[in-house]
Amino acid sequence: MQKVIITGGTGYIGSHTVVEFQNAGFEVVVIDNLSNSIIEVLDGIEKITGIRPIFYQVDVTEQKDLEIVFQKHGDAVAIIHFAAYKAVGESVQEPLKYYHNNIQGLLNVLSNMLKYDIPNLVFSSSCTVYGQPDKLPVTEDTPVVKPESPYGNTKKINEEIIDDTINSSENLCAISLRYFNPIGAHTSAYIGELPLGVPDNLLPYITQTAIGLRKELSVFGDNYNTPDGTAIRDYINVCDLAKAHVFAVKRLLNNVLKYEIFNIGTGKGSSVMEIIKAFETSTGQKLNYKIVDRRAGDIEQVWADTSKANKVLGWKAEVSLDETVKSAWEWEKKVKRD
Ligand code: WQD
Repeated sequence: MQKVIITGGTGYIGSHTVVEFQNAGFEVVVIDNLSNSIIEVLDGIEKITGIRPIFYQVDVTEQKDLEIVFQKHGDAVAIIHFAAYKAVGESVQEPLKYYHNNIQGLLNVLSNMLKYDIPNLVFSSSCTVYGQPDKLPVTEDTPVVKPESPYGNTKKINEEIIDDTINSSENLCAISLRYFNPIGAHTSAYIGELPLGVPDNLLPYITQTAIGLRKELSVFGDNYNTPDGTAIRDYINVCDLAKAHVFAVKRLLNNVLKYEIFNIGTGKGSSVMEIIKAFETSTGQKLNYKIVDRRAGDIEQVWADTSKANKVLGWKAEVSLDETVKSAWEWEKKVKRD
């Protein structure tokens, strides 16, 4: 059975990706420092697949601890590297925390891959590297700009580090997946998005409002140059996104190219109001919301051209927006919050 190591594997996208690799017949080793997730996520994974992944509570910025895992699992065929801080607003307040954690973490992963001959890396990148593109939809050739936030900049810098490292090494190959906006939860509702504290992201704020945890949703601006005035994003089902990582590892195992980048979205843009409407119609829940000023740092609109991932990876987003927002609601109703 081929083995993969997933860093950040108890996180939102990480945990859904563990499930998809187990479903695809891989043995999975999870590394996570539990700074932004809880160990009970492993119970949820086990309930879905019947297999509890091997787990190490390790911080990827701690090289000595990380190396112990690589010594034990140097037979892994790939590393899927999620472990990073990802709150855009927090990164503006605490840039050094983000540059240290997100960059040192990758440097340690790469140096251990070289030392223990693990040949393949899938990196969790983000559409945030495009900033506000001039032309839509964005392709992988759309110019990468200095993103608005230190968080986004760590993704851009990490892609450059990977590119340089690949070029210097005979055996190392990598794929960077540029995610658009991941939303939703596994249909079992055993795993899902678990924002600690007040959610930054739209859909968890919507579901927490609907369940009564939050008073009302603030819609950040309705004066954008979009059909209904609210900002547009490409919202992708988290299970579809997780599956893209399996497609990426399978491509890497075929040793086709040294380094490739793929946009992972649906190819369709939805406005904030369209997400609210989709939530209300698919769940029957009326949502309390009010229009407020724009949020600093937000871009107006972005959505993906996913033809490269569709053609080259053979991957395509499949789950509809309505089913996805409903899965987020089913999860919200089940999740135990202390
Ligand atoms: C989506 C839209 C908000 C909350 C960021 C990162 C990206 C990725 C996902 C990590 C925007 C509006 C939101 C609210 C609102 N991060 N909104 N009220 O900012 O597109 O992307 O998170 O992987 O890299 O950049 O996502 O969900 O925060 O916002 O009106 O309470 O919803 O203004 O238009 P974003 P988001």
